[in-house]
Amino acid sequence: MNSSEIRKRYLAFFEKRGHAVIPSASLVPENDPSVLFNTAGMQPLVPYLLGQKHPAGAHLVDAQKCIRTIDIEDVGDNRHLTFFEMLGNWSLGSYFKKEAIEWSYEFLTSKEEGLGLDPNRLYVTVFKGEEGIPRDEDSIKIWTDVFARNNVTNGLAGDDGIITKGVRIVPLGKDDNFWIAGTTGPCGGDTEMFYDTRPEDGNIEETNVPFEDLIKSFRIMEIWNNVFMEFNKNAEGKYEKLLSPNVDTGMGLERTTAVINGKTTVFDTDLFIPILLKISELIGDESESSQTPQAKDRAKRIVADHLRTSVFLIADGVLPSNTDQGYILRRLLRRAVRLSDVLKMKKSSLFWLADVVIDIYKDVYPELLRQKETIKVEIDKEEQKFRRTLVHGVKEFEQMVAVNKKNSIKIISGHQAFKLFSSYGFPIEITEELAKESDLTVNKAEFDHEMKEHQDLSRKGAEKKFKGGLSGTGVMETKYHTTTHLLNAALKSVLGNHVSQKGSNITSERLRFDFSHGDKMTDSQKKAVEDFVNEKIKESLDVTFSEMPKTEAQEMGAIGVFDDKYGDIVKVYQIGKDQTSNKIPVSMELCGGPHVNNTNELGHFKITKEEAVAQGVRRIKAILE
Ligand code: SER
Repeated sequence: MNSSEIRKRYLAFFEKRGHAVIPSASLVPENDPSVLFNTAGMQPLVPYLLGQKHPAGAHLVDAQKCIRTIDIEDVGDNRHLTFFEMLGNWSLGSYFKKEAIEWSYEFLTSKEEGLGLDPNRLYVTVFKGEEGIPRDEDSIKIWTDVFARNNVTNGLAGDDGIITKGVRIVPLGKDDNFWIAGTTGPCGGDTEMFYDTRPEDGNIEETNVPFEDLIKSFRIMEIWNNVFMEFNKNAEGKYEKLLSPNVDTGMGLERTTAVINGKTTVFDTDLFIPILLKISELIGDESESSQTPQAKDRAKRIVADHLRTSVFLIADGVLPSNTDQGYILRRLLRRAVRLSDVLKMKKSSLFWLADVVIDIYKDVYPELLRQKETIKVEIDKEEQKFRRTLVHGVKEFEQMVAVNKKNSIKIISGHQAFKLFSSYGFPIEITEELAKESDLTVNKAEFDHEMKEHQDLSRKGAEKKFKGGLSGTGVMETKYHTTTHLLNAALKSVLGNHVSQKGSNITSERLRFDFSHGDKMTDSQKKAVEDFVNEKIKESLDVTFSEMPKTEAQEMGAIGVFDDKYGDIVKVYQIGKDQTSNKIPVSMELCGGPHVNNTNELGHFKITKEEAVAQGVRRIKAILE
C-alpha cells in the first residue's frame, strides 16, 4: 500500500465516521511567532483544543504538514526527517477514549477500509500514572476488551515493561506516554501503537527484552499516538483540568508507509525513492566520489530530505534569509549544496529535484504545483548565491585545518567557525560536517558565544539608531502602531478574512506590514483600504484595552498572537468599542501596546508601496501625513 493510498484511506475512514476533512494549515503558524513551524498536527488547532468552536465541527480529520528541525543531526539514519506529514483525527470536547481506541484498532486492522495489519503483531502502551495523575485504567480496559473481542491475546505487562507470553499492553511513564507540545498548553496521557517489524527474528514474547530496547533496535516501530487531552498546563507549571477533554491523534505518514510495507527505512518508500533516483541520475559517474557507500547513502538521504522540506517551505511563502524561518531554509539548502558537491552531483542541479518532489505531492498539496516556478527559481538562486563563497570558504577551512594540525590542535575553534559563518555564509552544521570529514571537532559552545556577542552588538546598534530616531518620545511609533491595527482590520474587510499578519515593522517614518494574500492589490483595493483607515480616523474612535484570560479573548474573536502561554492574562486592544451598544469594534487585537488614546490623533493615512515579499505574502508600506 503506497503513501497516497494510506492518506486517502485514513481521511475516508474517519470521514465515514462523522469527521469533517480539513486541509493542512501552512507550515508557518499564522498567529504565533513563538514557534517557527508547526511541529505537530495539533499546533494549528490549539485554540480549538482550548475550547474555541471550530467552524467545521467537533470531529475533524486531516493530514498536516509539519517540520521538526530538532532532530536534524539524525537525518540520514533510517527514520528521522525534517519534514513529515501527520495524519490525525480529532475530537474537540466530544468523543473520548472508547471511540478513539476502537476506531484506531479498526483502522489498523481492517483490510477493506484500513491498513490490514496483523493484530497479533500490534502492541500498545498506556500511561502508567505519575506525578499525581493516576494510571489510565480506562484505556487499559478498553484495549483489553477490543483485543479480547477479536481473539487476540491482551495481557498487561508488569513494571519491567517486558512482553512475556500473552502480553500486549504495556504501561509506561511520563517520558513515554504523556504528550505536550513544548512546556505549556493542552496535554494529557496517551496510548501509542507499535508494530512488530521483524517477526522473522523470533517470537517477541520470548526475547525477554524491555519494551524500550525493542524500540531502540527497531524491532517494533511506533505508528500512531492517541493523546487524551485532559489538561492545560499553565505558565506556572500547574495542570488545569480542561472543561471538556479532547482527542488528538497523530500517525506519521512516512514511518507508517515504511512499516506496513516491511521496509526498515522511510527512504525506501514511494515518498523518497523517486527523489533518490533523481539524485543518482544527477551524479553521473558514481565512481568519481571517494566516499564509502554508507557515507554516500547518508549524504543522498540528507539532500533528499532537505530539498523536500525546502520545496514545502517555499510553497508556504518562506524565502532564504538570515532570520527565523528563512534562515532554516537557507541552512537546509546550503547544506544540500555542499553535500551535492561531495556526492559529485552536477553543479546547479538541485532545483531539478523540486520537480520530482512536486510530482509526488501535486494532487494532495496543489500549492506546490501553483508555485513550481518560484520554488525552482529560489532554490537555484540560493545555490548560486552560496556558490559565490563556498569554494573560498572551503579553502579557508583547509588552511585552518593545516594550521591547527601543525600545532597538533584537533579542534576548529569557535572563532574559526564564526569566521566561516560571517565571511563565507557557512551555517555551523556545514563547518561541523567538514570538520568531521577531517576527523576534527568544532568548539560549538565558543561559536555560540561569538554568535551571541555578534547579535548583541548588532542589536545595540539598532537600539541606538532607534532611540536616535525617536527623539525621546516615541510619539510617531505609537501612532503607527495604532494605524497598523486599523490597517489589519481594513485589509480583512477589503480583501477578505484570509488576510493574516505575517510581520510588522515600525519606524518613526513609516509602518511596514506583511500579510497573507495571493495577488497584487489593485488600485481600487488600495484606495478602499486607505478610505477605510481614514474614515476610522475621522470617526474619532476611542482606543481602549482590557485584560482578560486568553481563552476569553479567543472566544471574543480577538486576533493576534496566541502563543504557548495559554491560561495567561492577555491585553486586548479594541478600537471603537462602544460601551452603550453592542456594536462590534473595528479592531480587537492581542497586543502589548502602547497605543494612542483616540484615532483622531493619527492624521491622514497613505499607502506608499504595495509589493510581494514572498509567494502568498504581500507587504504594505504606509505613512501618516
Ligand atoms: N500530538 C501528538 C503527537 O504529535 C499526537 O498527534 O504525537
